[in-house]
Amino acid sequence: MHRQPNPRHVWLAIALAIAGMILLFATRTASAAEPLRGQALYESRCTSCHEKSVHGRVKREAKDFNAVRAWVERWNASLALRWDGEEVDDVAAFLNNTYYRYPCPPTICKVVSLR
Ligand code: HEC
Repeated sequence: MHRQPNPRHVWLAIALAIAGMILLFATRTASAAEPLRGQALYESRCTSCHEKSVHGRVKREAKDFNAVRAWVERWNASLALRWDGEEVDDVAAFLNNTYYRYPCPPTICKVVSLR
């Protein structure tokens, strides 16, 4: 016997595919910074010393988005990574999206409204 696929499942799969594409599109175009790239940069350069804990600790140093970005800038300088401004934005946006959740200047984090 040949089983027909359940039509509801087919529609669900189509809806999910469309939602996925919209999300991808929105993240690509609506955000100035790219948190995903920031995550890759951060994970390749910054996790050797501190684990996620430092950003989630109760007594954290960074008190707003600019402070988070300033920390990234500072580590960028002291590790001589030579990230450009966009890469610093990306890492700051990644850390902010993931841990801090401070209001982010719209020029940097347009994508925040998607949450
Ligand atoms: C040499 C070790 C080391 C490396 C490498 C390092 N960090 Fe840190 N980082 C620390 C330490 C230690 C602290 C805590 C400083 C304090 O408590 O005053 C810290 C704190 C921070 C904070 C502030 C956390 C808070 O309390 O809000 C940020 C943001 C941060 N680091 C980002 C980065 C980024 C981005 C990179 C990669 C470019 C990086 N760090 C690489 C050791 C390091």
